[in-house]
Amino acid sequence: MNTEIIRAEMPDAETYHRIEEAGAALRAGALVVFPTETVYGLGGNGLDKTASARIYHAKGRPSDNPLILHVAEPEEADQFAVVTPVFRRLARAFMPGPLTVVLQARESVPRTVTAGLPTVAVRCPIHPVARHLIRAAGVPVAAPSANLSGSPSPTCAAHVIADLCSRVEYIIDGGDCEIGLESTIVKEEPDGALTLLRPGAVTPEMLREVVDEVRISDAVRHPLKPGQTVLSPGMKYRHYAPKAPLILLKGTPEQRLGFYRAHDGEHTVILAYEEEIQQLRQSCRAVCLSVGAQAYQEELAHVLFAMLRRADELGAQCIYAPLPEDAGIGLALYNRMIRAAAFQVVQL
Ligand code: TXA
Ligand code: MG
Repeated sequence: MNTEIIRAEMPDAETYHRIEEAGAALRAGALVVFPTETVYGLGGNGLDKTASARIYHAKGRPSDNPLILHVAEPEEADQFAVVTPVFRRLARAFMPGPLTVVLQARESVPRTVTAGLPTVAVRCPIHPVARHLIRAAGVPVAAPSANLSGSPSPTCAAHVIADLCSRVEYIIDGGDCEIGLESTIVKEEPDGALTLLRPGAVTPEMLREVVDEVRISDAVRHPLKPGQTVLSPGMKYRHYAPKAPLILLKGTPEQRLGFYRAHDGEHTVILAYEEEIQQLRQSCRAVCLSVGAQAYQEELAHVLFAMLRRADELGAQCIYAPLPEDAGIGLALYNRMIRAAAFQVVQL
């Protein structure tokens, strides 16, 4: 299949016109990869069964892992889902933005989108290109992250091209995604409390300012126990993983340095905070990639998936990284990194 690439880092009138063409094609059944503020999405017509079947196929994704419906305005959620007062409060506080809310689905949503669940995940991205595409499509856009199933989510068009070129009709290149980690996913419980299913840039602390009780699902921090039922099917799959094993280190910067010296090698990649990089480069043969200042975890979020892909490109046989603190955006980092590392943590 011929994949058309639309460059939209600095969109002008002509670019917006081409995005509208891609939107019309999406409504008619085409697959369109588009940028969002979190990661790139692999979009198809959210009301069309065949389009969702094509999405699962293009990604190589198991069809029991449901898709998120993307809308241009939170008010549109009402057409596809049963909207509650808590949803409205969340929408006022965080939409458009990096929050996904799981609601009871209406009949209009194909069961292929929800993977047979009675619920549907709704998200309203803030990225202008994403919103323009959804508006132009005139239908909700079903979109998982635009990576091959199991590999890190794409945060720039080059990642998408590496994974999906010739599997989709359009790729809209909007440059680097600002946040770099997928949206926060929450579900409202019958008692009005929220369960956090996947942490993201909308943190538990932020959610607690809007909703009294926010519970963090066990699966956010821990591996599933055999036979345990999952609230969010995505949690049971190996995720975000680079090809080389990733090992996370828990300890002080001095302890990390000691560990790296003892485990040095030219096929090793170390993801290190900016403060540590110079000393590391002086004392190790390993390839040391900076993930920004430790006090600014947003930078690690922004580059994490790109760094995991880069480590693979460099032919890494082993990747080391510090285990982040699990507060604020750090909880989202902790959740992605611990899965990418298949829960391998070395306590120093
Ligand atoms: O930031 C994002 O959310 C990106 C961009 C493209 O919007 N999308 C994304 O989609 O990360 P995906 O498919 O890679 O992850 C969606 C997650 C999956 O883990 C899935 O299991 C969960 O959402 N999910 C979808 N529908 C659900 C539902 N009805 N109940 C519980 N979890 C659901
Ligand atoms: Mg994904």
